[in-house]
Order: sequence, then structure tokens, then C-alpha cells
Amino acid sequence: MPSPRRTFAIISHPDAGKTTLTEKLLYVGGAIHLAGEVKARGQNRRARSDWMKIEQQRGISVTSSVMTFEKDGVFFNLLDTPGHEDFSEDTYRTLTAVDSAVMVIDAARGIEAQTRKLFEVCRLRNVPIITFVNKVDREGRPVFELLDEIADMLALDVCPMSWPVGMGGTFQGVLDLKTNRISRPDGDSRTFQGRVEEAPELPPEIAEEIELAQAGYAAFDPEAYRAGDLTPVYFGSALKDFGPAELIAALAEYAPPPRPQPAEPAPVQPDEKDVTGFVFKVQANMDPQHRDRIAFMRLCSGTFKRGMKLTPTGHGKPIAVHSPILFFAQDREIADEAFPGDIIGIPNHGTLRVGDTLSEKPGVRITGLPNFAPEILRRVALKDPTKTKQLRKALDDLSEEGVIQVFYPEIGSNWIIGVVGQLQLEVLLSRLEAEYKVAANLEPSPFDTARWISSDDPAALKEFTDLNRGALAKDRDGNPVFLAKSAWEVGYIADRYSKVTFAATRER
Ligand code: G4P
Repeated sequence: MPSPRRTFAIISHPDAGKTTLTEKLLYVGGAIHLAGEVKARGQNRRARSDWMKIEQQRGISVTSSVMTFEKDGVFFNLLDTPGHEDFSEDTYRTLTAVDSAVMVIDAARGIEAQTRKLFEVCRLRNVPIITFVNKVDREGRPVFELLDEIADMLALDVCPMSWPVGMGGTFQGVLDLKTNRISRPDGDSRTFQGRVEEAPELPPEIAEEIELAQAGYAAFDPEAYRAGDLTPVYFGSALKDFGPAELIAALAEYAPPPRPQPAEPAPVQPDEKDVTGFVFKVQANMDPQHRDRIAFMRLCSGTFKRGMKLTPTGHGKPIAVHSPILFFAQDREIADEAFPGDIIGIPNHGTLRVGDTLSEKPGVRITGLPNFAPEILRRVALKDPTKTKQLRKALDDLSEEGVIQVFYPEIGSNWIIGVVGQLQLEVLLSRLEAEYKVAANLEPSPFDTARWISSDDPAALKEFTDLNRGALAKDRDGNPVFLAKSAWEVGYIADRYSKVTFAATRER
């Protein structure tokens, strides 16, 4: 029997403390030995120029996109979700590879825009969520207000698992409501140094709050949590070490083990013998010296062994996975064995793509990894027209990685790229130059959005394509796409061609 696995991600709005918490979890989990390792890079990142910032950010998501650590016999796989404000497809896809999430909220700010978006993505897949209200060492909003905001804005039952005894200047520690023990700040830094007190004497107003809370909120119900209907809420301070240890304990005790994965012809169960996994992320050019790429595969069933042959569904030929990579903290290690819930990195030369299912069993296809209709479209103009070939290669590579989507119009030679957030455009230009030595400009495109088109009625589809050739393109896989000038036009055209489907997402 393999050790239990907990595969999770941290979701938050920028600045809520995700990096700090990640570092502390790794520290408590014994994966790093010096507090400050992850953070130091965060600070560097802020100090550099714009391009370097992106590069550094990428650096972080490269070296730490998966971090594995073991604590008390449980293996934790922590998947990083990029921390910028743009909603990115990468983030979405990463969330399809986890079994649960930790949601970090700033005690002074409550639920913010990005937290909410990421939460909605989790909700789509019923990913259970543990909430961590961070920064209680600073002045924050009243505890009841925060709890009610989580409950109201996210439509979840909340159950406080701990309670901050004061915040900011009056902060005296965090009370564990189950054990009735309080962790107290110590010394000048007011950091938690293990000073725990049993059944403490509480200030009367806090004792009253807690009594009210225990009467007013639902009791903790592990089933409701696992179903995604209830979130246990922990209070703490990642910076001052209040909470990270409790979060790890909570993940070990309550968070779900690897869950069945939606797939065709039938869901893949973690206890199936055959190895099946799917690629949720591809990272190219991790080492600028080698044009290598790593496909990140989440294992859904079976015991993976090094050298095993797996077939990517739809591509035909089996590939032998000789040097799979495991991600123990910052060190990449060669994996001999991996179990459901684990992530392995598979070096390859472009054969593996985001959304691919890899399996010992023929014909299985993991479902539910969509492409999103881009919200920003731009025309790519080369500064040096002799570089067309390099540009095409770069656009193909980067679209495969999910950085951008690329559309090749049926008429004309101006390739169009699509993204869902502005930052992706900056990343594209920087990477074109740095990795492919292609200097390009992004120009406004006459189009504003794109829809994948299909129809059960070939005649209807032909009529539509014949009359709208100027707005047709193919995506990287050769699927037909309608480029529209506005969302309104999509609606208008969809009404006129009712037998044609205009899809805003395309499942691979
Ligand atoms: P992010 O990854 O979610 O963007 O947040 P990050 O951990 O980088 O934290 C954002 C800021 O909040 C940092 O301060 C960090 O030190 C601070 N912070 C994180 N957790 C806590 C906490 O529990 N209490 C307090 N008081 N602060 C916390 P910064 O000044 O913006 O960054 P830096 O200059 O220290 O790097």
C-alpha cells in the first residue's frame, strides 16, 4: 500500500500571503531548511525590470510548479498556480489536477476578485476548500464579518476551526477550538515559538464571541467539506508561524485522497490496476541550453514504474517513460515509482500536449480540460519578414504550452494570437525574443473574440463557412474557428445560423 497522498493547490488574490504560506508549509513539512528561500526569490522578482519580473515569475513557476514533501507518513503534492491577477488558463488547468485547495484570505481585505474567480473554478469541479484567514498579527476586520463574507459571497457553510484572540496590537494568540489550546506569540518578533497553553483564560469579549460562533455556525462535517459544501476556516499568520502546522494537520486528516477522474468511456478510479494520467501543463525551454520540454502528468490510477510504456490517447504510438521526474521540494528527482495523486514530469520533444491522456489501457480519455475562448486578439507582425518559419515554430510551441492560442486565418497571412489576459501578451513578446530570437509587434486585430464552430449538419456548416470565409481561421490543431468582431456579433450570427454551434470552450 502506498502512503496516503494529498494533492492540493493554494488559491488567493495577490499579496494575501500565498508565497509566505507556501514557504512555511514546505518548512513545516521539512522540505526546505531555511525559512526565506521561496520568499527571497519573490523579493528579487519585485526588484527587477519588467521583463526580468516576468522571467523571474516564470522562474518561480518553473522550479516550484510542483513541490512534494512528506510529513508523518503522508505525501503532500503542492501545485503552484501562477499568482498574477490575470485569470490564466494555466491556473485553471492546474486546478483540474488537484483533489483539494487551500484558500488564503487577507484578514483586512476579505474575499478579493481573484480569490473569487479561482474559487468558482474549484466549485465547477467540487474541489473541497480549507480557508486560511491570514495576517491576524495585523489589524484586520472583525471575525464575524469575515466569516459571514465567506459564507455569503461564496455560498458556502463556514465552520471556524480556530479563533484569533485579538488582532494587530491586541493580538494574543490563536485558539484551537477543538483542543481549547492557545498558541501564544513570543519574544520581540511576536512569532509563534511553540508556547502553547491549555484551557486559557480568555478576555471576556473573546469568550463571548466564541460562544456565539459555536452556537451560530455549523459544526464541522467532514462529508460536507469533501462535497465542497462547507469550508473549515483557520485563522493565523503565515509570517509569524501561526497556522501552517495546523493546516498541514488538517489536510492530512480531512482533505480527500486522490479522487476518481472524469473520463471516457468511464471515470478512472484511483484503485484501478492500469496506469492512467493526464497532462495538465507543458513547460518548454526550462533549460535555455536545451530545447527540452517537460509535460506535467497527474497520475490518476495504477502504480507507475520507470521505463513503463504509456500511450497518449489519439496519438497512437506508445512512449517509454525512461526518465520521469519527481518534484521533491526544489530538487528534481528521478522517479522510480509514483502513485495516484503524484505528479511526474516527462521530458519530451513536443510529442506531449496539454490535455493528453497517457494510459496503459487503450482508448481512455480524461475529460474536462477546456480551451477558453480568448478575450484579447492581436495580429502578430514580424519586424524581420525572413523569420516567418521561426515565428510559426514559436507560436506553435507557445500555444502548445498554453501561453497563447494561435489562429491561422483562411485568408491572408497575418497570424492571430488570442489570450485571456493582458499579461500573456507581455510574456509572449519577451519569450519570442529571448527564446526564439524573433522580434515582433502585436497589432490591433479586427477581431475581438473567437468561437469554435461545429455542426451535425454538414450543409449548414458549409453554407456558413462559404459566406463567412473572411472571418474563418484554424486553431493549432486544425479545428475551424469563427473570429468575431464582438460578442454581439457572435450572438447575431449564432441566431442566423441556428444549426451551427459556436462554442466558447473546446474540450481536448
Ligand atoms: P502573495 O504570494 O500572495 O502575493 O503574497 P506574499 O506571500 O508575497 O505576501 C505579500 C506581503 O504580505 C508580503 O509583504 C508578506 O511579507 C506579507 N505577509 C504575508 N503573510 C503575512 C502575515 O501573516 N502577516 C503580515 N503582517 N504580513 C504578511 P511585502 O512587504 O509586500 O513583501 P516583502 O517586501 O516583505 O517581500
